Amino acid sequence: MRRDEISAWLRETDRSRLEQLWRQADEVRRQNVGDEVHLRGLIEISNHCVRECHYCGLRGPNRRLPRYRMTAAEILACAHQARALGCGTVVLQSGEDPGLTAEWIADLVRNICVATGLAVTLSLGERDFAELAAWREAGASRYLLKFETSNRALLNRIHPPRDPQRPDRFAILRHLRGLGYEIGSGIMVGIPGQSWEDLTDDLLCIQALELDMVAVGPFIPHPQTPLGAAGSASDHPDQVPNDPVTTCKVLALARLLAPLANIPSTTALATIGGTSARELGLRCGANVLMPSLTPARYRSSYEIYPDRASFGTSGGLSRAELENRIQSLGRRPGVGRGDSPNYHRRPRGQTCHDVAAG
Ligand code: 5AD
Repeated sequence: MRRDEISAWLRETDRSRLEQLWRQADEVRRQNVGDEVHLRGLIEISNHCVRECHYCGLRGPNRRLPRYRMTAAEILACAHQARALGCGTVVLQSGEDPGLTAEWIADLVRNICVATGLAVTLSLGERDFAELAAWREAGASRYLLKFETSNRALLNRIHPPRDPQRPDRFAILRHLRGLGYEIGSGIMVGIPGQSWEDLTDDLLCIQALELDMVAVGPFIPHPQTPLGAAGSASDHPDQVPNDPVTTCKVLALARLLAPLANIPSTTALATIGGTSARELGLRCGANVLMPSLTPARYRSSYEIYPDRASFGTSGGLSRAELENRIQSLGRRPGVGRGDSPNYHRRPRGQTCHDVAAG
């Protein structure tokens, strides 16, 4: 798809034209990754964070947030619950927390793999190459690291680098691919200061990275952050809105540009648009759901943004209910790990640049 076509779709407001976009994305989804909806059990293992991102409620300077770190036994219990719920994968997610040491995570990954047989996805922020290698060695299959926005100036403003000498998220993603991980990345939609042209670049970037997983969620203001504080909203005429329709346009275009990727209908989308938005996500390109298995006593403290939609065991979600919801959309729950067909097409260990170079 050409840049001007992407840009025109993003600015489209005609309802019947948008229905066409949803249908096209749904068809590409069906042809490339089928009717299975893969379930990933999300376990938010720690909300400690050393970073100071201007959008995120977990940012270190937010002193109002009670901090927690789950024990290995608690995490393992959640992984067993994930399996009982029918998940083929557990996703271990946290703030950027040096208290989660390389050895501790490696042991945890090994234990989960042995005890449950589930695929393990890590989403632990910008970590050292040696740590990423040790975790891959321990059995982790996938790593999620969103680039958030491809606009460098905007990114540097809202995501202050810890140390400008360290590899940025693109370099880390390339390295992860070289280590043999499936790689996932994505963006937030409607960041204050994000323009339609930025969003067009973001989508071209998602395509160029040949991602195995793509995550797209709306920016949701958090009052204890610089971007969520009163008066920080942008009134620029080219400002992208952070609404469900815009998020679904990006989701649908991501499916067209990365046909083989696994793409979740995110909790952030359901938070701003309710259950109907989560289902619209599944009808306009998404093929993954990520119920949370985080124990209720911790979940409220994993407050990257306020009032997160409840979807998972802490909200009382059962296997039967999940199956019903998926089947009511004419789909079926995924069986097995739900690896990305994109990953299996690519010779192991090659980087995207090796592949691009032929
Ligand atoms: N709104 C939406 N998504 C957010 N994230 C962090 N803060 C927010 C917010 N305020 C997302 C980012 C990040 C992930 C941990 O959560 O995309 O990568």
